[in-house]
Amino acid sequence: MNKPQSMTMPLTLQKLALVALAALALAASRSHAQDAAFHRGQTLHAEKCAACHAEKSGLGNGDVLYTRSDRRVTDTKRLEGMVARCNSELRLDLFPEDESDLVKYLLGRFYSFK
Ligand code: HEC
Repeated sequence: MNKPQSMTMPLTLQKLALVALAALALAASRSHAQDAAFHRGQTLHAEKCAACHAEKSGLGNGDVLYTRSDRRVTDTKRLEGMVARCNSELRLDLFPEDESDLVKYLLGRFYSFK
């Protein structure tokens, strides 16, 4: 025998609401993790990268390296490559996770390519 609709509908809605809540919570924790990575990248950048860039640019502010019109980095792959190169050539001793946080920071702050 079939249950009447009125008994099953609210349950289904409740389940839907739970699923929606779970999805929201997941999205929130993801973006929280993204934020954390961004901020770690920002700190690492200030500690390991900014001073040399500021000096090399001759302007006291290394950020111009990322925004100059003839900048070398034109897509995410190159950005990853450049961060890895600065890391290994200069022996900055960053872990892959540090590099990935730095990339997130630089992407979010300076570069915006699709
Ligand atoms: C000892 C100096 C030095 C340090 C430390 C350094 N860099 Fe660099 N970086 C340079 C120089 C010089 C350039 C410019 C290279 C060129 O124009 O050919 C550069 C360029 C870059 C670029 C390319 C900018 C563009 O779009 O043209 C990125 C990205 C970059 N560095 C990332 C980093 C990161 C991330 C760190 C820290 C983990 C770092 N660098 C540490 C010297 C340094």
